[in-house]
Amino acid sequence: MATLRSQIYIFTFCASLFLQSSCYGYSEIQKKQAALFVFGDSLFDAGNNNYINTTTRYQASWWPYGETFFRYPTGRFSDGRLIPDFIAEYGNLPFVPPYLQPGFNNYTYGVNFASGGAGALAETHQGFVIDLETQLGYFKKVEKQLRHKLGDDEAHTLLSNAVYLISIGANDYYAPFITNSSLFESHSHEKYVGMVIGNLTNVVKEIYKKGGRKFAFATGFPLGCVPSMRALKPGKTGTCQEEITALVQLHTRVLEKTLLKLKGQLQGFRYSNPNFYTFLSGRINNPTKYGFKEGKEACCGSGPYRGINSCGGKKGVTDYQLCDNVTEYVFFDSVHPTERVYEQISKFWWNQSLSSTGTYFNLKKLFEV
Ligand SMILES: *[C@@H]1O[C@H](CO)[C@@H](O)[C@H](O)[C@H]1NC(C)=O
Ligand SMILES: *[C@@H]1O[C@H](CO)[C@@H](O)[C@H](O)[C@H]1NC(C)=O
Ligand SMILES: *[C@@H]1O[C@H](CO)[C@@H](O)[C@H](O)[C@H]1NC(C)=O
Ligand SMILES: *[C@@H]1O[C@H](CO)[C@@H](O)[C@H](O)[C@H]1NC(C)=O
Ligand SMILES: *[C@@H]1O[C@H](CO)[C@@H](O)[C@H](O)[C@H]1NC(C)=O
Ligand SMILES: *[C@@H]1O[C@H](CO)[C@@H](O)[C@H](O)[C@H]1NC(C)=O
Repeated sequence: MATLRSQIYIFTFCASLFLQSSCYGYSEIQKKQAALFVFGDSLFDAGNNNYINTTTRYQASWWPYGETFFRYPTGRFSDGRLIPDFIAEYGNLPFVPPYLQPGFNNYTYGVNFASGGAGALAETHQGFVIDLETQLGYFKKVEKQLRHKLGDDEAHTLLSNAVYLISIGANDYYAPFITNSSLFESHSHEKYVGMVIGNLTNVVKEIYKKGGRKFAFATGFPLGCVPSMRALKPGKTGTCQEEITALVQLHTRVLEKTLLKLKGQLQGFRYSNPNFYTFLSGRINNPTKYGFKEGKEACCGSGPYRGINSCGGKKGVTDYQLCDNVTEYVFFDSVHPTERVYEQISKFWWNQSLSSTGTYFNLKKLFEV
């Protein structure tokens, strides 16, 4: 609320100066404020998939999505806010809107390009999502618009002060287990993970070329243990899908090495790359220790562990169950955590001590300008 009020204040103050150039775009106050650019998948999508030609499989634009905080469905794949929403709040920013939201074109505080179902590989859910390369294309358009509005110098300052929050890869590893993927079948795990990281590295380098310096990666999501994987594993219902877990852990190791290398190659490159695997599997396996009651079954869905992706009844299966008290649950639907889990992750990521995890920066540090 305080943030909103001060924004309005800045706006009216500037309007009273007849929109002088320094007010029009990027005020002195905003120069001390890092913007937030968000890339990735459904962990971060704030509604972009509402505006693309896709199927309900890749959307969350109906009740009970959004029930807890917004009280209407925004397209976020949870009951409430996501990690980028909490990080924006801690960084004194308003919520960062989806790039495709009609009428939104003021990128002073950043913008969100993430798309549910998206991967680093073009083949992942191709035709239904905004893949990472396309998200980068949108970012390049934003960069052009900023240079046009603010001039090269101010645009560069804004982009180099900004934080780039990225969650990508999970769908590249998840999709081959629910659809046929010749790309996955024809490569070793090492090669396949190498392709995912290679694509991600390209995107990081392209953002760097446009001025980006401060990167934060969400890694280690325990994808093999989400309710859908637990439910659908043939013959061994209830256990985690170890092959996906192995892929996620390989991804985490390769990414960590790649980032260290990039740090040596790209001057001024800074990053935060905590591994959330232990953080999340702790909550899944010992929910009561962290204030939850249920770690394995989803709040919303059907079938064993409510692992059938039917929350809201809009994906072919119309019957589904919804829990009474979502704050007791780790998972909201068959794949995605609840707002409460996202808040715990965000607090940890914002404030975690720098030495304990081997990452170079927490988000609070990255937001400093
Ligand atoms: C863009 O948003 C910022 C921050 O709210 C504001 O100061 C600025 O005046 C806006 N620019 C335009 C062109 O509306
Ligand atoms: C959306 O996709 C469907 C199925 O792929 C296609 O038939 C339709 O023409 C597309 N609509 C637009 C507006 O692109
Ligand atoms: C990522 O990999 C795909 C192959 O899946 C390729 O077609 C695409 O151009 C790559 N994108 C980037 C940004 O490297
Ligand atoms: C993959 O393809 C095979 C044969 O082409 C088919 O029998 C099978 O159902 C497919 N699996 C998935 C998950 O689409
Ligand atoms: C929901 O669960 C939380 C956490 O266990 C508890 O603090 C809260 O009182 C519950 N709310 C209701 C309405 O039962
Ligand atoms: C970070 O830590 C400080 C000091 O302990 C605390 O005041 C603040 O609320 C924490 N911020 C978040 C987002 O957890």
